[in-house]
Amino acid sequence: MEPIIAGNWKMNMDPAESRTLVQDLMKSVGDIKGRIVILIPPFTSLASVCELTRNTRFKLGAQNMHWERSGAYTGEISGLFLKSLGCEYVVLGHSERRHIMGESDETVNKKLKVALEIGLIPIFCVGETEQERESGATEQVIRRQISEGLKGIENEAHKIVFAYEPVWAIGTGKTATPEQAVAAHKFIRNLLKKPSTILYGGSVKPDNIDTLMKEDEIQGVLVGGASLKADSFARIIKFIQ
Ligand code: PGA
Repeated sequence: MEPIIAGNWKMNMDPAESRTLVQDLMKSVGDIKGRIVILIPPFTSLASVCELTRNTRFKLGAQNMHWERSGAYTGEISGLFLKSLGCEYVVLGHSERRHIMGESDETVNKKLKVALEIGLIPIFCVGETEQERESGATEQVIRRQISEGLKGIENEAHKIVFAYEPVWAIGTGKTATPEQAVAAHKFIRNLLKKPSTILYGGSVKPDNIDTLMKEDEIQGVLVGGASLKADSFARIIKFIQ
């Protein structure tokens, strides 16, 4: 499968800024081949990014969704709405949702189920905090997040894109070494029955992308901060294999 380069813009980029970023990316990497590039803007920019990326090589993803298809859930967004806007992917279980918004393995599990039912490809994030790594609990945490997250859908895990994102590496400038990332990817792979795509995320930058992507275990990256600037994101997209 082609490597995946996904840019999660988090709570950045209003519709006008999103347009400019997409237009700049189009100029530099609009016709790039051999990669799946996924743009993951905030909800309010999905429509403008969708319009600009229609019939291009760029794919669209959302940062979160609710586990019900519709109903009295003020402030929430249905996966069906995301599909109708042209999203093919949805990020679920991101560490900022888990640690800042209090999302649990159980709600992540409900969301994963619905995403698969309605035909969105989940980008399912797992990863340990610094304290968990230091206390030797990395594998235990990842095992729990995966087994709870996949409860009842174990046989569909191959339809999910996994993202190993050590929390201590997100937005900190501290990237996991290729050895640390590969070890975690292998651990995740061994928990799954069938082969799945596994991305790495956490301070991916133009100056570490080539080293990370040299590893067969790393089948792509989920990029936060460095996806907000066209030149740095384009360099990441153009990584040297
Ligand atoms: P970062 O974020 O690249 O800014 O570390 C990664 C992520 O949260 O997916």
